[in-house]
Amino acid sequence: MQAPPKRPAVGERTLTLKAVPFFTQLSDRELDVVRAVATEKNYPKTAVVLTEGEMGDSLYMIQSGKVKVFIGDEDGREIILKILGPGDFFGEMSMIDKQPRSASVNTIEASLFLVLSHAAFEKCVEQAPRIGNMVMRVLAQRVREADRKIGTLALMDVYGRVASTLLELSVYSNGKLMVGEKLSQQDLANMVGASREMVNRILKDLSERGFISIESKSITIINRELPPSL
Ligand code: CMP
Repeated sequence: MQAPPKRPAVGERTLTLKAVPFFTQLSDRELDVVRAVATEKNYPKTAVVLTEGEMGDSLYMIQSGKVKVFIGDEDGREIILKILGPGDFFGEMSMIDKQPRSASVNTIEASLFLVLSHAAFEKCVEQAPRIGNMVMRVLAQRVREADRKIGTLALMDVYGRVASTLLELSVYSNGKLMVGEKLSQQDLANMVGASREMVNRILKDLSERGFISIESKSITIINRELPPSL
């Protein structure tokens, strides 16, 4: 009997799914079409851009800066769903289905956005139909990622969730696999649904066991086969 295909390591699964930023796929003509109907908006660091539950019909494309997408509760606890940077967009869900915002979005760096209202987006799609397809593709990627996260939350313990999140955030830089975002331990805790103390313990353990190295808040992955649990 044929052996079942080997399940890819956590790292292989996460690294292949990285989305190519939306902006970088637009041609010059498509960018001109967007710019002709979009407005520019500047936000300082830690500004509220969208609030979960509020109505709104605009899509935001990030020209520069960085935002966090999160959901929270009344006690101020938050789960970070995603960190988005230049070339990414957000706000498309309410723009498409006219329902309240599914999550909140705050800047984590001063940011410049190109903002498209529903009407402006329709104009873009009329003049450059590929833009509509590209937005659909990103939506499909986000559903895939959300599916994967549901699996991670349901099937992995906190140790595995931290390991898989580190790999998901990692990019190659100067031949090293590094966590691209400068995250605080609280941010990481908010991404995996654990306490900061627990994340601190796990990072220390991963570092002592030689899987990662931590230098001035920068995390390098030394061994991609991070252990799923202790
Ligand atoms: P919208 O619901 O209009 O406002 C909040 C936005 O957060 C949402 O559109 C998406 O753009 C973004 N968002 C919500 N969930 C996720 C997710 N899981 N990953 C990335 N972005 C998300």
